Amino acid sequence: MADSAVVTIDRHIMEEERKYPEATGALSNILTDLALAAKLIQREVAKAGLVDILGKVGRENVQGEQVEKLDEFAQEVIYKSMDHSGTLCCMVSEEEEGLIPIPEDFPVGDYVLVFDPLDGSSNIDVNVSIGTIFSIYRKISSGERGTLQDCLQPGRMMVAGGYVLYGSSTMLVYSSGTGVHGFTLDPSIGEFLLSHKNIRLPNPPQRYYSVNEAYFQKWALGQQRMVACLKGMGDKEMQPFRSRYIGSLVADFHRTLLKGGIFMYPRDDNSPEGKLRLLYEAAPIALVCEQAGGRASDGERDILDIIPTELHQRTPLFLGTREFVDMAEEFLQQDPDLPC
Ligand code: AHG
Ligand code: MN
Ligand code: MN
Repeated sequence: MADSAVVTIDRHIMEEERKYPEATGALSNILTDLALAAKLIQREVAKAGLVDILGKVGRENVQGEQVEKLDEFAQEVIYKSMDHSGTLCCMVSEEEEGLIPIPEDFPVGDYVLVFDPLDGSSNIDVNVSIGTIFSIYRKISSGERGTLQDCLQPGRMMVAGGYVLYGSSTMLVYSSGTGVHGFTLDPSIGEFLLSHKNIRLPNPPQRYYSVNEAYFQKWALGQQRMVACLKGMGDKEMQPFRSRYIGSLVADFHRTLLKGGIFMYPRDDNSPEGKLRLLYEAAPIALVCEQAGGRASDGERDILDIIPTELHQRTPLFLGTREFVDMAEEFLQQDPDLPC
Protein backbone atom coordinates (compact mmCIF):
# COMPACT_ATOMS: atom_id res chain seq x y z
CA MET A 1 0.00 0.00 0.00
CA ALA A 2 1.61 3.27 -1.11
CA ASP A 3 2.08 5.62 1.78
CA SER A 4 -0.74 7.99 1.00
CA ALA A 5 -0.05 10.17 4.00
CA VAL A 6 0.04 13.82 3.08
CA VAL A 7 2.83 15.19 5.25
CA THR A 8 2.94 18.97 5.40
CA ILE A 9 6.17 20.66 6.44
CA ASP A 10 4.46 21.80 9.65
CA ARG A 11 3.56 18.18 10.51
CA HIS A 12 7.11 17.02 9.68
CA ILE A 13 8.65 19.77 11.84
CA MET A 14 6.37 18.86 14.77
CA GLU A 15 7.21 15.14 14.40
CA GLU A 16 10.93 16.03 14.40
CA GLU A 17 10.42 18.20 17.49
CA ARG A 18 8.75 15.33 19.38
CA LYS A 19 12.03 13.39 19.11
CA TYR A 20 13.54 15.92 21.54
CA PRO A 21 11.49 16.04 24.78
CA GLU A 22 13.50 19.06 25.95
CA ALA A 23 12.57 21.03 22.81
CA THR A 24 10.83 24.34 23.48
CA GLY A 25 9.29 24.57 20.02
CA ALA A 26 11.32 27.69 19.14
CA LEU A 27 13.27 25.98 16.35
CA SER A 28 10.00 24.59 14.96
CA ASN A 29 8.55 28.11 14.97
CA ILE A 30 11.58 29.46 13.09
CA LEU A 31 11.31 26.78 10.40
CA THR A 32 7.57 27.29 10.09
CA ASP A 33 8.03 31.07 9.77
CA LEU A 34 10.72 30.51 7.11
CA ALA A 35 8.30 28.31 5.15
CA LEU A 36 5.76 31.16 5.21
CA ALA A 37 8.42 33.64 4.03
CA ALA A 38 9.31 31.24 1.21
CA LYS A 39 5.67 31.18 0.05
CA LEU A 40 5.52 34.98 0.06
CA ILE A 41 8.73 35.24 -1.97
CA GLN A 42 7.59 32.50 -4.35
CA ARG A 43 4.40 34.44 -5.02
CA GLU A 44 6.42 37.43 -6.27
CA VAL A 45 8.94 35.27 -8.14
CA ALA A 46 6.03 33.58 -9.96
CA LYS A 47 4.65 36.99 -11.00
CA ALA A 48 8.06 38.44 -11.97
CA GLY A 49 7.60 40.17 -15.31
CA LEU A 50 3.96 40.94 -14.59
CA VAL A 51 4.55 43.13 -11.56
CA ASP A 52 7.26 45.70 -10.95
CA ILE A 53 9.62 43.29 -9.18
CA LEU A 54 12.30 42.89 -11.86
CA GLY A 55 15.36 45.00 -12.45
CA LYS A 56 17.63 46.88 -10.14
CA VAL A 57 16.88 49.27 -7.31
CA GLY A 58 19.81 51.50 -8.27
CA ARG A 59 22.09 50.92 -5.28
CA GLU A 60 24.91 48.57 -4.30
CA ASN A 61 24.89 46.20 -1.33
CA VAL A 62 27.74 45.61 1.10
CA GLN A 63 29.27 43.26 -1.46
CA GLY A 64 29.47 46.08 -3.98
CA GLU A 65 26.89 44.26 -6.10
CA GLN A 66 23.89 45.90 -7.73
CA VAL A 67 20.78 45.15 -5.63
CA GLU A 68 17.86 43.67 -7.56
CA LYS A 69 14.30 44.56 -6.53
CA LEU A 70 13.70 40.91 -5.68
CA ASP A 71 16.81 40.88 -3.44
CA GLU A 72 15.33 43.76 -1.47
CA PHE A 73 11.83 42.28 -1.44
CA ALA A 74 13.08 38.89 -0.19
CA GLN A 75 15.19 40.60 2.46
CA GLU A 76 12.17 42.54 3.75
CA VAL A 77 9.86 39.50 3.71
CA ILE A 78 12.28 37.36 5.72
CA TYR A 79 13.08 40.16 8.17
CA LYS A 80 9.38 40.95 8.78
CA SER A 81 8.48 37.25 9.05
CA MET A 82 11.13 36.66 11.71
CA ASP A 83 11.61 39.88 13.72
CA HIS A 84 8.65 39.59 16.10
CA SER A 85 8.52 35.84 16.80
CA GLY A 86 10.53 35.97 20.04
CA THR A 87 12.70 33.11 18.76
CA LEU A 88 15.74 35.07 17.52
CA CYS A 89 18.36 37.19 19.28
CA CYS A 90 19.66 38.66 15.99
CA MET A 91 19.99 38.00 12.27
CA VAL A 92 22.69 38.21 9.56
CA SER A 93 21.89 38.77 5.89
CA GLU A 94 23.95 39.06 2.73
CA GLU A 95 22.10 42.33 2.12
CA GLU A 96 23.02 44.01 5.42
CA GLU A 97 26.58 44.97 6.39
CA GLY A 98 26.29 44.37 10.10
CA LEU A 99 24.41 42.17 12.53
CA ILE A 100 20.63 42.80 12.36
CA PRO A 101 19.22 43.35 15.89
CA ILE A 102 15.69 42.42 16.95
CA PRO A 103 13.62 45.64 17.36
CA GLU A 104 13.58 46.88 20.96
CA ASP A 105 9.81 46.43 21.33
CA PHE A 106 9.89 42.78 20.27
CA PRO A 107 10.82 39.79 22.51
CA VAL A 108 14.15 38.10 21.84
CA GLY A 109 14.94 34.39 21.73
CA ASP A 110 17.84 31.98 21.78
CA TYR A 111 18.57 31.48 18.09
CA VAL A 112 20.45 33.29 15.32
CA LEU A 113 19.21 33.29 11.72
CA VAL A 114 21.84 33.76 8.97
CA PHE A 115 20.52 34.01 5.43
CA ASP A 116 20.98 34.87 1.78
CA PRO A 117 17.52 36.19 0.93
CA LEU A 118 17.84 35.78 -2.82
CA ASP A 119 20.58 33.61 -4.31
CA GLY A 120 21.35 33.76 -8.02
CA SER A 121 20.26 37.38 -8.51
CA SER A 122 21.87 37.55 -11.96
CA ASN A 123 19.31 34.97 -13.10
CA ILE A 124 16.18 36.76 -11.84
CA ASP A 125 15.36 38.70 -15.00
CA VAL A 126 15.93 35.74 -17.33
CA ASN A 127 13.52 33.34 -15.60
CA VAL A 128 16.22 30.92 -14.43
CA SER A 129 15.95 29.17 -11.04
CA ILE A 130 16.95 31.23 -7.99
CA GLY A 131 16.85 30.50 -4.28
CA THR A 132 16.99 31.50 -0.62
CA ILE A 133 19.58 30.00 1.74
CA PHE A 134 19.29 29.88 5.55
CA SER A 135 21.13 28.59 8.61
CA ILE A 136 20.17 28.63 12.29
CA TYR A 137 22.48 28.63 15.34
CA ARG A 138 21.89 28.69 19.09
CA LYS A 139 22.94 31.88 20.89
CA ILE A 140 26.20 31.24 22.78
CA SER A 141 26.83 34.68 24.33
CA SER A 142 25.59 35.43 27.85
CA GLY A 143 23.66 38.59 26.94
CA GLU A 144 19.98 38.71 26.03
CA ARG A 145 20.52 40.23 22.61
CA GLY A 146 22.72 38.63 19.98
CA THR A 147 26.32 39.64 19.42
CA LEU A 148 28.92 39.07 16.72
CA GLN A 149 30.16 36.09 18.75
CA ASP A 150 26.77 34.42 18.24
CA CYS A 151 26.99 34.96 14.47
CA LEU A 152 30.59 33.84 13.87
CA GLN A 153 30.10 30.17 14.74
CA PRO A 154 31.56 27.29 12.68
CA GLY A 155 29.05 25.35 10.59
CA ARG A 156 29.43 22.34 12.91
CA MET A 157 27.41 24.35 15.47
CA MET A 158 24.45 24.83 13.07
CA VAL A 159 21.19 23.43 14.48
CA ALA A 160 19.45 23.57 11.08
CA GLY A 161 20.25 24.72 7.56
CA GLY A 162 18.80 24.55 4.10
CA TYR A 163 17.45 26.36 1.10
CA VAL A 164 14.38 27.21 -0.96
CA LEU A 165 14.62 26.64 -4.73
CA TYR A 166 12.25 28.74 -6.84
CA GLY A 167 12.37 26.57 -9.96
CA SER A 168 9.95 24.64 -12.16
CA SER A 169 8.43 23.85 -8.78
CA THR A 170 9.28 25.49 -5.48
CA MET A 171 11.08 23.25 -3.00
CA LEU A 172 12.24 23.74 0.56
CA VAL A 173 15.12 21.40 1.47
CA TYR A 174 16.58 21.37 4.99
CA SER A 175 18.40 19.34 7.60
CA SER A 176 18.29 19.67 11.37
CA GLY A 177 21.00 17.06 11.79
CA THR A 178 18.92 13.91 11.20
CA GLY A 179 19.11 13.62 7.42
CA VAL A 180 17.86 15.81 4.58
CA HIS A 181 14.20 16.25 3.71
CA GLY A 182 12.63 17.99 0.69
CA PHE A 183 9.18 19.59 0.52
CA THR A 184 7.48 20.69 -2.68
CA LEU A 185 5.02 23.58 -2.65
CA ASP A 186 1.52 22.65 -3.81
CA PRO A 187 0.30 26.11 -4.92
CA SER A 188 -3.31 24.87 -5.08
CA ILE A 189 -3.39 24.49 -1.29
CA GLY A 190 -0.42 26.73 -0.39
CA GLU A 191 1.33 23.93 1.49
CA PHE A 192 4.86 22.53 1.34
CA LEU A 193 4.34 18.73 1.16
CA LEU A 194 7.01 16.12 1.94
CA SER A 195 8.15 14.93 -1.51
CA HIS A 196 11.76 13.83 -0.94
CA LYS A 197 12.18 11.97 2.37
CA ASN A 198 15.75 11.42 3.61
CA ILE A 199 17.60 12.54 0.46
CA ARG A 200 20.96 10.82 -0.12
CA LEU A 201 23.49 11.64 -2.82
CA PRO A 202 23.18 8.81 -5.37
CA ASN A 203 25.78 6.05 -5.61
CA PRO A 204 26.91 5.60 -8.32
CA PRO A 205 26.76 9.32 -9.03
CA GLN A 206 26.15 11.02 -12.34
CA ARG A 207 29.53 12.34 -13.49
CA TYR A 208 28.66 16.05 -13.65
CA TYR A 209 31.13 18.80 -12.95
CA SER A 210 29.84 22.31 -12.40
CA VAL A 211 32.16 25.34 -12.53
CA ASN A 212 32.32 28.68 -14.33
CA GLU A 213 35.11 27.94 -16.83
CA ALA A 214 35.31 31.60 -17.91
CA TYR A 215 37.80 32.05 -15.07
CA PHE A 216 40.07 29.16 -16.26
CA GLN A 217 43.03 31.42 -17.03
CA LYS A 218 42.92 32.88 -13.50
CA TRP A 219 42.84 29.52 -11.67
CA ALA A 220 45.70 27.82 -9.86
CA LEU A 221 47.53 25.19 -11.95
CA GLY A 222 46.03 22.31 -9.94
CA GLN A 223 42.52 23.60 -10.64
CA GLN A 224 43.29 23.94 -14.35
CA ARG A 225 44.74 20.41 -14.50
CA MET A 226 41.72 18.95 -12.72
CA VAL A 227 39.18 20.49 -15.11
CA ALA A 228 41.36 19.51 -18.10
CA CYS A 229 41.28 15.91 -16.84
CA LEU A 230 37.51 16.03 -16.23
CA LYS A 231 37.18 17.07 -19.89
CA GLY A 232 39.32 14.13 -21.00
CA MET A 233 42.22 16.37 -22.03
CA GLY A 234 44.65 14.95 -19.46
CA ASP A 235 46.83 11.86 -19.92
CA LYS A 236 45.09 9.97 -17.11
CA GLU A 237 42.38 7.57 -18.26
CA MET A 238 39.22 8.95 -16.67
CA GLN A 239 35.58 8.08 -17.27
CA PRO A 240 34.18 11.17 -19.02
CA PHE A 241 32.27 13.85 -17.13
CA ARG A 242 29.55 16.17 -18.40
CA SER A 243 29.36 19.88 -17.60
CA ARG A 244 26.39 21.71 -16.09
CA TYR A 245 26.46 25.30 -14.75
CA ILE A 246 23.35 27.33 -13.92
CA GLY A 247 24.95 30.22 -12.05
CA SER A 248 22.62 29.97 -9.05
CA LEU A 249 24.35 28.10 -6.23
CA VAL A 250 21.06 26.72 -4.92
CA ALA A 251 20.10 25.30 -8.35
CA ASP A 252 23.58 23.92 -9.11
CA PHE A 253 23.71 22.31 -5.67
CA HIS A 254 20.17 20.88 -5.84
CA ARG A 255 21.06 19.08 -9.08
CA THR A 256 24.27 17.79 -7.46
CA LEU A 257 22.30 16.59 -4.41
CA LEU A 258 19.80 14.63 -6.51
CA LYS A 259 22.10 13.37 -9.30
CA GLY A 260 25.61 13.47 -7.86
CA GLY A 261 28.73 15.14 -9.26
CA ILE A 262 30.84 18.04 -8.06
CA PHE A 263 30.15 21.77 -7.84
CA MET A 264 33.16 24.06 -7.67
CA TYR A 265 33.65 27.74 -7.08
CA PRO A 266 37.46 27.93 -6.75
CA ARG A 267 39.65 30.85 -5.81
CA ASP A 268 41.26 32.74 -8.68
CA ASP A 269 43.74 35.60 -9.26
CA ASN A 270 40.97 38.20 -8.85
CA SER A 271 39.16 36.46 -5.97
CA PRO A 272 41.86 34.90 -3.74
CA GLU A 273 39.16 33.60 -1.35
CA GLY A 274 36.66 32.73 -4.10
CA LYS A 275 33.30 34.50 -4.49
CA LEU A 276 30.84 32.56 -2.35
CA ARG A 277 30.24 33.66 1.23
CA LEU A 278 30.94 31.22 4.07
CA LEU A 279 28.17 32.10 6.53
CA TYR A 280 25.06 32.20 4.37
CA GLU A 281 26.01 30.27 1.22
CA ALA A 282 28.77 27.67 1.75
CA ALA A 283 28.04 26.56 5.35
CA PRO A 284 24.28 25.86 5.12
CA ILE A 285 24.72 24.10 1.76
CA ALA A 286 27.64 22.14 3.26
CA LEU A 287 25.43 20.95 6.13
CA VAL A 288 22.81 19.63 3.69
CA CYS A 289 25.52 18.06 1.51
CA GLU A 290 27.19 16.24 4.43
CA GLN A 291 23.85 15.12 5.90
CA ALA A 292 23.04 13.59 2.47
CA GLY A 293 26.32 11.60 2.47
CA GLY A 294 28.43 14.05 0.48
CA ARG A 295 31.39 16.32 1.26
CA ALA A 296 31.95 20.08 1.24
CA SER A 297 35.49 21.47 1.29
CA ASP A 298 37.34 24.73 0.71
CA GLY A 299 39.96 22.70 -1.14
CA GLU A 300 41.89 21.86 2.01
CA ARG A 301 39.42 21.20 4.85
CA ASP A 302 35.71 20.72 5.54
CA ILE A 303 33.65 23.88 5.18
CA LEU A 304 31.83 23.10 8.45
CA ASP A 305 35.11 23.21 10.39
CA ILE A 306 36.00 26.76 9.33
CA ILE A 307 35.66 29.26 12.20
CA PRO A 308 34.42 32.54 10.66
CA THR A 309 36.15 35.82 11.52
CA GLU A 310 33.94 38.16 9.46
CA LEU A 311 30.22 38.11 8.60
CA HIS A 312 30.75 38.34 4.84
CA GLN A 313 33.98 36.39 4.46
CA ARG A 314 34.31 34.38 1.26
CA THR A 315 35.57 30.84 0.75
CA PRO A 316 36.47 28.58 -2.16
CA LEU A 317 33.84 25.81 -2.37
CA PHE A 318 34.01 22.20 -3.62
CA LEU A 319 30.98 20.10 -2.82
CA GLY A 320 29.04 17.01 -3.89
CA THR A 321 29.92 13.34 -4.27
CA ARG A 322 32.55 12.48 -1.65
CA GLU A 323 35.03 10.76 -4.02
CA PHE A 324 34.94 13.73 -6.43
CA VAL A 325 35.58 16.27 -3.66
CA ASP A 326 38.46 14.11 -2.38
CA MET A 327 39.82 14.07 -5.95
CA ALA A 328 39.59 17.88 -6.17
CA GLU A 329 41.60 18.24 -2.94
CA GLU A 330 44.27 15.90 -4.36
CA PHE A 331 44.60 17.93 -7.56
CA LEU A 332 44.79 21.21 -5.62
CA GLN A 333 47.42 19.88 -3.21
CA GLN A 334 49.42 17.93 -5.79
CA ASP A 335 52.55 19.10 -7.54
CA PRO A 336 51.15 20.85 -10.66
CA ASP A 337 53.79 19.20 -12.87
CA LEU A 338 52.43 15.69 -12.15
CA PRO A 339 50.60 14.14 -15.14
CA CYS A 340 46.90 13.78 -14.39
P1 AHG B 1 23.91 36.02 -5.02
O1 AHG B 1 22.91 36.22 -6.11
O2 AHG B 1 23.27 35.77 -3.68
O3 AHG B 1 24.95 37.11 -4.99
O4 AHG B 1 24.69 34.65 -5.34
C1 AHG B 1 25.20 34.46 -6.61
C2 AHG B 1 26.31 33.44 -6.53
C3 AHG B 1 25.83 32.00 -6.55
O5 AHG B 1 24.45 31.86 -6.54
C4 AHG B 1 26.38 31.45 -7.85
O6 AHG B 1 26.89 30.15 -7.66
C5 AHG B 1 27.50 32.41 -8.19
O7 AHG B 1 27.13 33.67 -7.66
C6 AHG B 1 27.67 32.56 -9.68
O8 AHG B 1 28.81 33.40 -9.85
P2 AHG B 1 29.41 33.60 -11.33
O9 AHG B 1 28.41 34.45 -12.07
O10 AHG B 1 30.73 34.30 -11.09
O11 AHG B 1 29.59 32.23 -11.94
MN1 MN C 1 23.99 33.91 -3.03
MN1 MN D 1 21.92 36.91 -2.60
